[in-house]
Amino acid sequence: MNLQEIDDLIRQAANKATKETNDEPEPGLTQDVVWPVDVKIGKGLEGAIATTTRIGYVNGAKGWLVYRGYNCFDLAEKSNFEETTYLLLFGKLPTTSELRNFKQKLVRYRSVPRKVFEVLKMVITPKTHPMSALETAVSVLGNLDEQANDTSAAGETEIAVKLIAQLATLAGAAARLHQGKSPLAPDPELSHAGNFLYMVTGKQPDEFSERIMDIALILHADHGMNASTFTTMVVNSSLSDMYSSVVAGIASLKGPLHGGANERVLYDLEEIGSAANVKTWFEKARETKRKVMGFGHRVYKAYDPRARIFGPIARLMAEKNPAIGGLYETAAELEKVVCGELGAEKKIFPNVDFYSGIIYKALGIETAMFTPIFAVSRIAGWTARALEYLADNRLFRPRAVYIGPIKAEYVPIEKR
Ligand code: CMC
Repeated sequence: MNLQEIDDLIRQAANKATKETNDEPEPGLTQDVVWPVDVKIGKGLEGAIATTTRIGYVNGAKGWLVYRGYNCFDLAEKSNFEETTYLLLFGKLPTTSELRNFKQKLVRYRSVPRKVFEVLKMVITPKTHPMSALETAVSVLGNLDEQANDTSAAGETEIAVKLIAQLATLAGAAARLHQGKSPLAPDPELSHAGNFLYMVTGKQPDEFSERIMDIALILHADHGMNASTFTTMVVNSSLSDMYSSVVAGIASLKGPLHGGANERVLYDLEEIGSAANVKTWFEKARETKRKVMGFGHRVYKAYDPRARIFGPIARLMAEKNPAIGGLYETAAELEKVVCGELGAEKKIFPNVDFYSGIIYKALGIETAMFTPIFAVSRIAGWTARALEYLADNRLFRPRAVYIGPIKAEYVPIEKR
């Protein structure tokens, strides 16, 4: 396998996306918003506009994902996680020395106090979900940091960078402990993606695996006002502290309707067993109104651009690794069947989570770690957006329409 093959796949995916969408931005959501804004708000806050942002843009109708003006195809092909994170946090692509300093800082911040490992050891069992363990570990980190309550812009920015580095270390440790092994010390010679992969698998990654992990981290780093980003921002808007805000982000991401879908996809593919069983499995899923994991999206009503990249990469990895060939074939058949049945009618296409698990499996990562990988990346978007909002902070405080009774008469307990 060579790196050029990956770049070619990303370029082809970008060209396909360009051909299928046109270049006109969707009006209304890329301009400055003048408050108050009249919108129709649906269930799950659909349509609600919570703030303005310069960090990222998702065009659901056309299937675009843009970080600070740069489209995700260009970043996946040309950037790396450290540079993309700098871009999200600080609003511009770094110069050579800015990037070098930022990378060095991330490396310096990788180590984690011993006490946190002790707590991780205590809470992780083969049955614990690593995402729950990460919630606990980040909370402990916050308790041990004397600067945790510094909610100034400078204080929160420093903690954000520290946490971006440390969450990868914690997830690496959680992966090892989950398998009954001892955590590994971070390797300062490796990139963020390479070190994370090393800490999870225990193997020095080759350049191909490191690049694939880097692409995965770039593509998950930010995605509009998704549930975990909004959750992080809501907590941070009360001037709680960055650790608490990130704990909340992890908690939100864990759910199967959000980041937890990637591991469920793998369980579904294993349950289906082979491409030949897909049709029957899907018919039953429809009958029982079971959602097919890895399909559909609140915002995308077109093909998710991240899945455009992950699909061909999964195919490439399956071609080179027969152990995951069957999984890929089953997934490709499921895509054909689900899109055939629901694509035109409900605009249901594969999302970011559909092919990513097959890729992680090919990299030798256990299924329970798929959502933590998402967290290790998305923390860049969580913190960037929390910091952007902090600069002109106003407590988030929506309202609910009360539909209960107004004048109920209190009945003493013995008369109920
Ligand atoms: N399988 C089958 N039908 C679906 C699916 C699916 N995966 N997703 C949506 N539909 C149907 C849904 O039942 C509804 O049908 P009807 O009009 O008959 O009621 C219609 O499509 C509209 O969907 P919705 O449920 O209103 O969409 P939503 O915005 O509430 O939910 C979603 C979005 C992502 C929660 C949902 O598509 C879903 O549950 N997908 C599976 C879980 C998944 O893959 N999640 C990862 C999302 S992407 C990564 C991330 O953000 O974390």
